[in-house]
Amino acid sequence: MRILNVANYDEMSQKAAELVIERIRRNPHISLGLATGGTPVGLYAQLVRDHQLNHTTYQHVTTFNLDEYLGLSSDDPNSYRYFMDKHLFDHIDIQKTNTYIPSGDFKNPEQQSKDYEDLLRSKGGVDLQILGIGSNGHIGFNEPGTPFQSETHIVELTPSTREANARFFNSLHEVPTHAITMGIGSIMRSKEILLLISGDQKRDALMQLLRGEITENFPASMLKTHPNVTIIADEAATGSH
Ligand code: GLP
Repeated sequence: MRILNVANYDEMSQKAAELVIERIRRNPHISLGLATGGTPVGLYAQLVRDHQLNHTTYQHVTTFNLDEYLGLSSDDPNSYRYFMDKHLFDHIDIQKTNTYIPSGDFKNPEQQSKDYEDLLRSKGGVDLQILGIGSNGHIGFNEPGTPFQSETHIVELTPSTREANARFFNSLHEVPTHAITMGIGSIMRSKEILLLISGDQKRDALMQLLRGEITENFPASMLKTHPNVTIIADEAATGSH
């Protein structure tokens, strides 16, 4: 894992955008794996800005999101489909039919999981996966204890993850209890991974990632075995301020 230290959230977002744009320009048919949460919002804003200023095109880009809450419709402001449209897709020239997000439809979640994994494979997988990290080391919604070989599956969210994400909802009880997420095995198949870490609430997670052992109790630790990971971390996360 390479680690790039930056001063703050804005610089993290800027550096991340530079890397993503460079990869898109090198391969206009790139397949991007996308994350939600507060961390990548600045990156998406930079991509939008670059698209407006420099006309980087997404005409041939395909995207796969990591996860989605179960039970929220796509037009629910807290669904990850809504999030992606609002922060990125509505402002770039991507074809919406090339943007894939796991379905949060309650009806047949096991089948939805299988279908998403099949789709990922049939489209040739992800070239560049963008990741954030939960303070308990989760990636996507893969909570501690998730098998490293896991593929797209349904998860019950831990109380700490629901609490951390409650800030986007009116109250904690509105936060869904379950989600569908790409598995750790699915994430590990991507050719390159860009992990963004910002803020002092992520300091312990970053420390554990860098110094701790590889264990299913800390899902992100599996990234240490991936051959092409870049971490961009700000000073609040590294503790060097
Ligand atoms: C959420 C998402 C993850 C995200 C993580 C951190 O639960 N499912 O993909 O990386 O939590 O979120 P944030 O960036 O808001 O700290």
